[in-house]
Amino acid sequence: MAHRTAPEPPALVPAAAPEEAPAPGAVFDWLDETAELRARAGLTRTLRSRPADDPVIDLAGNDYLGLTRHPTVTRAAADAALRWGGGATGSRLVTGTTALHTELEGELAEFCGVEAALVFSSGYTANLAALTALTDPDTLIVSDAYNHASLIDGCRLARGDVHRAPHSDPDAVRAALAGRTHRRALVVTDSVFSVDGNAARLPELSAAVSAHGAALLVDDAHGLGVLGPGGSGALAAAGLAGRPDTVATVTLSKSLGSQGGAVLGPHRVIRHLVETARTFIFDTGLAPAAAGAALGALRLLRAEPHRAERAREVARSLSDRLTAVGLQASTPDAAVVSVRAPGPEAAVAWAADCRRAGLAVGCFRPPSVPDGVSRLRLTARGDLTDAQIADAVRTIAALAPAGAHQA
Ligand SMILES: Cc1ncc(COP(=O)(O)O)c(C=O)c1O
Repeated sequence: MAHRTAPEPPALVPAAAPEEAPAPGAVFDWLDETAELRARAGLTRTLRSRPADDPVIDLAGNDYLGLTRHPTVTRAAADAALRWGGGATGSRLVTGTTALHTELEGELAEFCGVEAALVFSSGYTANLAALTALTDPDTLIVSDAYNHASLIDGCRLARGDVHRAPHSDPDAVRAALAGRTHRRALVVTDSVFSVDGNAARLPELSAAVSAHGAALLVDDAHGLGVLGPGGSGALAAAGLAGRPDTVATVTLSKSLGSQGGAVLGPHRVIRHLVETARTFIFDTGLAPAAAGAALGALRLLRAEPHRAERAREVARSLSDRLTAVGLQASTPDAAVVSVRAPGPEAAVAWAADCRRAGLAVGCFRPPSVPDGVSRLRLTARGDLTDAQIADAVRTIAALAPAGAHQA
């Protein structure tokens, strides 16, 4: 039997002439255009790998206590890798929790004076976890305008409404809390702001959250190991450690010389994160070598608490000496010092000249600086000698571009 096919419908629109397909890869042409725009604005960023035996004095990294290469820390990392393997093998809830993770969490919590801690693969994922898991659509998140990018991204992922509060302004925070229509509120701040190294006004923020039934989330990335008794952090320094309405996040990658992050707070907060935080549940556990190194560094810091005070002392010394030679250095509350540059290109050239002269300094420029002011960023290291500090200041001053000095 012959097959009957349905008649073709009449063509209502003339068929368009087939267009020539764009060249494969043309879809990314716009990336070159934006790269060109960044280059014209002096905002190109490039990677440079450093040799293991780099002879430069490093004021660019975040190794505040100089522990990254301390033999106790590297030995702890190596032992952990030899014992537990190169990776954690799975997410924390499946196979990625080793006895090392549990020990590290216990000791971190005890050191910082909080009920419990939960270790993440980075400070970034710890911040995303805290912001997304501790908020719901009926939460107002009040976030300092100068907060770190990982807190900003946490705010973007969270389901609550975000209010960007002016920098370091507890009155504005209080007003936002008082005027809210949301059932819950979370105030979010860095403890020490990454760019200028100034400290958040934690006692006033804590008073504001308690007056308004809100919670406080403090990113103590730059406070752990530097502020508080023996480096136990900004909450301890402000007498706020262990409060039931307060949560901290930390990174293990700065003063603890390793890699990873943690959330610190009341037991019920930590339990909630274990059961609900997506960057905890769907992420491979922190590598054993990193957990081991962080634990080694933490034990070292507890045995040698003067290391924290020395990092602060080096920062003050850098700031005082740079100011004395007429540069616009920030007054450090912890271990970060910034020096104003006349513009992004001048900042990049200044940092590059310093590097050629054997001194590594950071360079912050838009979009990493919320106020648009480009800067050199120096991180004080507790293991620097007074002679090294004096040398560093001499180099920075000698290479300063026109316009870098105070008016
Ligand atoms: C304030 C602050 N929060 C969070 C992070 C992220 O931590 P991590 O590097 O461990 O992801 C950093 C820096 O790297 C930081 O400076």
